[in-house]
Amino acid sequence: MLISFEGIDGCGKTTQIMLLHERLQREKMPVDVLREPGGTELSEMIRGILLNSDIPMNPVTELLLFSAARSELVSTRVKPLLDQKVIVILDRFYDSTVAYQGFGRGSLPINEINKLNKIAAHGLEPDVTFFLDIGVDEALERQNGTGKGPDRIERAGGAFFERVRDGYHYMSEQNGRYHTIDANRPAEDIHHEIWLRVSGMIR
Ligand code: TYD
Repeated sequence: MLISFEGIDGCGKTTQIMLLHERLQREKMPVDVLREPGGTELSEMIRGILLNSDIPMNPVTELLLFSAARSELVSTRVKPLLDQKVIVILDRFYDSTVAYQGFGRGSLPINEINKLNKIAAHGLEPDVTFFLDIGVDEALERQNGTGKGPDRIERAGGAFFERVRDGYHYMSEQNGRYHTIDANRPAEDIHHEIWLRVSGMIR
């Protein structure tokens, strides 16, 4: 089973992924968590370029680097784990590319990005996608509270994140695999909703 988590930066994904991971471990289910971009030596190197560098980057170049990191992660880690019946939780997947590089940056038309995503994901699709929805102002506040400075993507600013959020709303209407969650609630309540869905799918 492949579970992906999506949302704008500061939506609380990391907390929810940790809670679900722990819960599945307690249930003695085989489970692994991987993040995008990253999860392999090569993909982590690409992540460094994408998030930490100050070098100006063409939007299509950015799109292709995220896709390259993804191809490597899916082919060397995700597919083998799924073949072994391990539940894989992905901290972001190609919907992030539609939202950030498509709606946010406007790098290419969405139908072109969808084609590229299929290639980079080697045809893999999540069984369920949890979209943690939160307002841009609340998300920016949470980001400021982390004490970390913004990375290269986060520096794009509020109007960019509004477009990214619109992108997620668009996908949630298009895709049956989407489970949209109001993320402006206590973490335990959100976890409860996620667990109801996942436990139902396991059974
Ligand atoms: P990360 O620190 O993992 O952010 P978060 O904890 O919010 O997931 O950095 C990932 C950043 O990369 C985040 O700003 C979203 C962005 N991103 C894209 O722009 N396109 C993509 O395809 C992916 C996977 C991530």
